[in-house]
Amino acid sequence: MSENEGISNFFGIICLLLFVFANAYYPARLIANQYRPWPKDIAIFFKKYLDLHMSVNIVAFIAMTIHAHFSDDRNIFLMASLLVTVWLTFAGILMRSKKFSSDTKKQMRLIHTQQTVFLVWLALLILGHVVE
Ligand code: HEM
Repeated sequence: MSENEGISNFFGIICLLLFVFANAYYPARLIANQYRPWPKDIAIFFKKYLDLHMSVNIVAFIAMTIHAHFSDDRNIFLMASLLVTVWLTFAGILMRSKKFSSDTKKQMRLIHTQQTVFLVWLALLILGHVVE
């Protein structure tokens, strides 16, 4: 294994672990939404988990950039998944920015939290890693 490949693999594993942890937020929320209204402790739990969703996704995105930079593999699915990740990360950050009107933030939230975007993101990542 070349040195670059070793670095790429290391950051790939870190990135995978971080993304799984950060985005398990979504299925957890989907399940918990069935049991509303939430007791106070569940509401506090999701408030803290949302903070983690944001910060851990940003760290995962940095790990992903290093992973991709040192990797020898390139294909259209991986490129597309990188673009969708950039979009989700920036839309996520901008959604919280005080500089935008609440209308703009609402629209960004709508796109950021779409189930289809999430599923396309997952499908591209998986496809990109299984095709030669
Ligand atoms: C690849 C990275 C990301 C993915 C796949 C992703 C995906 C999602 C999904 C599916 C939801 C919907 C959850 C729900 O309906 O309750 C969500 C919510 C949210 N995400 Fe992300 N996200 C990512 C990164 C980020 C980042 C980097 C930030 C901010 C720094 C962020 C901020 C938020 C916020 C604030 C919400 C809650 C929206 C609300 O309920 O008002 N996300 N994200």
